[in-house]
Amino acid sequence: MTRRILVTSALPYANGHIHIGHLVEYLMTDIWVRFQRMRGHRAVYVCADDTHGTAIMIRARQEGRSEEALIADMQAAHQRDFQGFQIEFDNYGSTNSPDNRELCEHFWKALRKQGLIVERDVTQLYDPLESVFLADRFVKGKCPNCGAPDQYGDSCEKCGAAYSAIDLVDPYSTLSGAKPELRSARHYFVEIEQLHGFLEQWTQSGEHLQLEVANYLKGHFLAEPLRDWDVSRPGPYFGFELPDAPGNFWYVWFDAPIGYLASTAEWCRARGERFDDWWRSDDVEIHHFIGKDITYFHTLFWPAMLKVAGYSLPTRVHVHGFLTVNGEKMSKSKGTFVMASTYLRHLDPAYLRYFYASKLSPKVDDIDLNLEEFAAKVNADLVGKVVNLASRTARFVDRLSERYPEDEGLFEAGAKLGDDIAAAYDACDFARAMRLVMSLADRANEYIDRKEPWKLKKDPAALDTMRDVCSVALNLYRQLAVYLSPVLPKLSQQSAELLNDDLSTWKAASVPLAGTPVGKFQHLLARVDMQAVSKMLEETLSTEPAVVAEPTPAAAGGSALTDSDEPLRAEPIAAECSIDDFAKVDLRVARIVAAAEVPRADKLLQLTLSLGGDERRTVFAGIKAAYRLETLVGRLVVVVANLAPRRMKFGTSEGMVIAAGPGKQEVFLLAPDTGARPGQRVH
Ligand code: 2FM
Ligand code: ZN
Repeated sequence: MTRRILVTSALPYANGHIHIGHLVEYLMTDIWVRFQRMRGHRAVYVCADDTHGTAIMIRARQEGRSEEALIADMQAAHQRDFQGFQIEFDNYGSTNSPDNRELCEHFWKALRKQGLIVERDVTQLYDPLESVFLADRFVKGKCPNCGAPDQYGDSCEKCGAAYSAIDLVDPYSTLSGAKPELRSARHYFVEIEQLHGFLEQWTQSGEHLQLEVANYLKGHFLAEPLRDWDVSRPGPYFGFELPDAPGNFWYVWFDAPIGYLASTAEWCRARGERFDDWWRSDDVEIHHFIGKDITYFHTLFWPAMLKVAGYSLPTRVHVHGFLTVNGEKMSKSKGTFVMASTYLRHLDPAYLRYFYASKLSPKVDDIDLNLEEFAAKVNADLVGKVVNLASRTARFVDRLSERYPEDEGLFEAGAKLGDDIAAAYDACDFARAMRLVMSLADRANEYIDRKEPWKLKKDPAALDTMRDVCSVALNLYRQLAVYLSPVLPKLSQQSAELLNDDLSTWKAASVPLAGTPVGKFQHLLARVDMQAVSKMLEETLSTEPAVVAEPTPAAAGGSALTDSDEPLRAEPIAAECSIDDFAKVDLRVARIVAAAEVPRADKLLQLTLSLGGDERRTVFAGIKAAYRLETLVGRLVVVVANLAPRRMKFGTSEGMVIAAGPGKQEVFLLAPDTGARPGQRVH
């Protein structure tokens, strides 16, 4: 029976690039979807960028551009990375879409109608300079327990104590450095406890969740009344405004999973499909793939929301563990926090696809990418066992034997094992699937080692035997290529070209090929080079992730890497100065807290700068032609803080903001990286 299957991976946040930790999930899902299609099922794989929230709003402010511009660039970057790893979505949307807004309104109405929404005031820390409420990750201070400085608003990294942000000693906003104030605001909550009975039954039925996930929910949440879920944030907030409570916005986690539906709706429109046939049909299976950190949202809130709004419930939520590298958390300082784009500059995506597949099981355990093991496994299994079958035999024949020869029952045994391999894939036990495939590869290699076609080739009387042996070897290779096709789509495609055959269905592995031409053998997969692995780590260590909007060298006509010498010619480097000379100039990070036009001045804007605490400066800057006022407020700049005040026609300038460029529209303010705080000295 043909199944109709809708599949999702968690929507990546638009405030960061895809890294090898994210890829565990997208590769897992992509492999599962490809497998289902090979079995003849109809699988639709949708995803989107998760675009809302304070983090995006602040980042856009700091970069001096709109949130929409930021998320558009990030979406393009994400899609490039996914494509590089052969992760193929049927639709890749954005939570900031008209479809998503409309669907959110529908969910909201249903929640209201069923009396599930309650309102309460919430007191929270507020940044008076940035004019935003501060989520825990945007506040730091001294740990109320051990006194360690610079601890986040929820827990102390030093002593492990958990606390509330308002308990921090000497708190400061990580956005502006300002001392936060306590402010109260209205929030909207979903009384999810009203659905306790339903959630108990849905999570514990044994059908939708791994047993360990069901037990975790029972032990951690369902044993007590479920706490109300805070689904709104007061403005300013980048998100969708509540239709019946202006000035309030849905919290990013409210609209994110609804993005699964919005992305499906986009796909339906493009394909002429009916949305209700996918989200309101008993004939469709819905499978979510997620990491263990977001179990709560997907197994409690999400089924509750779907139920209330009248949509199909997930058939299965597949939860996986985190990635560790060399046995430890991914680390920037060890170079193991590898971005997808960095990996692709050094290594073949097929390696990671296979390695992750060889580690993934239906368990929630973390998986480890030990880089030595990674290289050894890929080299031994893929190059040494699989590709080697073809490379040792395909060159000897230009045609397979007219009838498939006697092969000691090998092909038949491989065909029989196909059911076990398929069951393992279907259950997300890719590790078992890979072990079974490699057991077939071992037997095939053992056969060739015994038959030694390279010796037969030298004996004119043995040429028919040689062709038969090679035909067996290539058929066994082809069987492996079919079974590995969900994991290694490119290898499967290359193999199809070599054998002039179609390897895109599972059935292909049960019927041997005979009498068909064999193409010219082309290189299939190189060994993993440990030097390339080291280079990838070095690059990760030495670079910040690439900027979002950076054009690829190809898009820039190959010229992006060669800078013009024109600026240097226009203004040659000045006479040498000593370090003491330089130290006299006191450069400081400052935040623009106000920007105003100066009446009758063509070039100048008046900026009010905060250097932290009460230290303020008024500065006149010749940047009017280059910047719009509203993009300036909130951003960090660098100021010469000890410059003698200068009386000007319009007032006194108490410092100078540093910028590059010749002038007019060509003025570029210098900005410190995220994390710098007003008042910090620039050395
Ligand atoms: O944890 C995350 O990265 C979230 N952006 C996942 C959202 S998944 C879904 F609910 F949208
Ligand atoms: Zn502490």
